[in-house]
Amino acid sequence: MASKSVNVAVIGAGVVGSSFLKQLSSVKSQISYNLILLSTSKKALISKDYKPLKLGSCETDLAQTTEAPLSLEKLLDFLKQSPAPVIFVDNTSNESIANFYPQLVQNGISIATPNKKAFSSSLALWNELFSGNESSGLVYHEATVGAGLPIIGSLNDMVQTGDRIQKIEGIFSGSLSFILNKFSSTSPSDYKFSDIVKTAKDLGYTEPDPRDDLNGLDVARKVTILARIAGFKVESPTSFPVHSLIPKQLESVASGAEYLEKLPEYDQEMEQLKKEAAAENKVLRFVGKVDFPNNSVSVGIEKYDFSHPFASLTGSDNVVSIQSMRYPSPLIVQGAGAGADVTAAGVLADVFKIAQRL
Ligand SMILES: NC(=O)c1ccc[n+]([C@@H]2O[C@H](COP(=O)([O-])OP(=O)(O)OC[C@H]3O[C@@H](n4cnc5c(N)ncnc54)[C@H](OP(=O)(O)O)[C@@H]3O)[C@@H](O)[C@H]2O)c1
Repeated sequence: MASKSVNVAVIGAGVVGSSFLKQLSSVKSQISYNLILLSTSKKALISKDYKPLKLGSCETDLAQTTEAPLSLEKLLDFLKQSPAPVIFVDNTSNESIANFYPQLVQNGISIATPNKKAFSSSLALWNELFSGNESSGLVYHEATVGAGLPIIGSLNDMVQTGDRIQKIEGIFSGSLSFILNKFSSTSPSDYKFSDIVKTAKDLGYTEPDPRDDLNGLDVARKVTILARIAGFKVESPTSFPVHSLIPKQLESVASGAEYLEKLPEYDQEMEQLKKEAAAENKVLRFVGKVDFPNNSVSVGIEKYDFSHPFASLTGSDNVVSIQSMRYPSPLIVQGAGAGADVTAAGVLADVFKIAQRL
């Protein structure tokens, strides 16, 4: 018999949202998790009397409803009146919703989300989110970096127990991991950079326009989040050097298709970098770095010795290495850093942690 109840409001029923709902429906726990709202940008299921919606059929019920979603203000009113504590699960990448988190948190509503926006935009928003008092909601966002991998929780634990972080270094993009692992490996290969980008796109590893991955901005957002947790006051993801992998001339071409068509003309530059690295027994990797001794944060291509853990990475795995006062030999976390099920599991684990603390 469940001893405690929490109400769960879910926004977003896409790839991650759908997997989250499936995982939530099979939870067996002392705590009962009651879905009271499920919304996309077009439709919403709302339990006006706060009785649990049917988890097993909620996605079909959502498809069949004609009810419109609530505005953020009306949503807040609805959640504020919930008789049980509320966990708001944001499975979108929407910026307006992210900007609204402070109002939710100030009203005692907790948040679990894989949406990076709130944590990687202005430092003011970050400070507002994490400067609450005892009646504020809790904010968990493990899946914003490395999907379900235990990166944010581990880093938070290290910092909160008094460890001092020296350096964080990692491969935080599944698509760029795949591209560079194939392009530059410890055994010689003659794959062309442009061909690998195209394969990555065909396999669904990149965004519809691969430039949205290759510009490095998504990695910059993740590095911003880790740097802030470690105590580095990063103003925004554009306040430090980010080395884009898009040739200057292709930055402004009209479409992803045109970019892919013209990319072979620029293969030589990447080929040269790869040759230089190989001559030093090194590989190329696209990494984000937070370096406390050098007071720097950066994103871009780096060279790693064949013996370095980053050099043997395969597929689209993510990896992070955290060097600290207590871990002079770095703590390394590696594994799938994208995908619906691992991401949803990261969000669900956050929901459990919040519920246990409420
Ligand atoms: N997929 C992954 O492997 C992965 C990994 C790590 C993190 N993430 C993060 O997880 C989040 C979700 O990703 P996803 O792949 O599931 O995206 P997705 O498939 O595009 O789904 C997004 C969902 O959010 C809804 N949505 C968007 N704007 C909304 C709004 N203003 N109000 C209400 N609902 C809105 C969409 O509804 P409509 O269809 O009505 O627009 C859709 O149901 C993102 O923040 C992403 O960065 C994803």
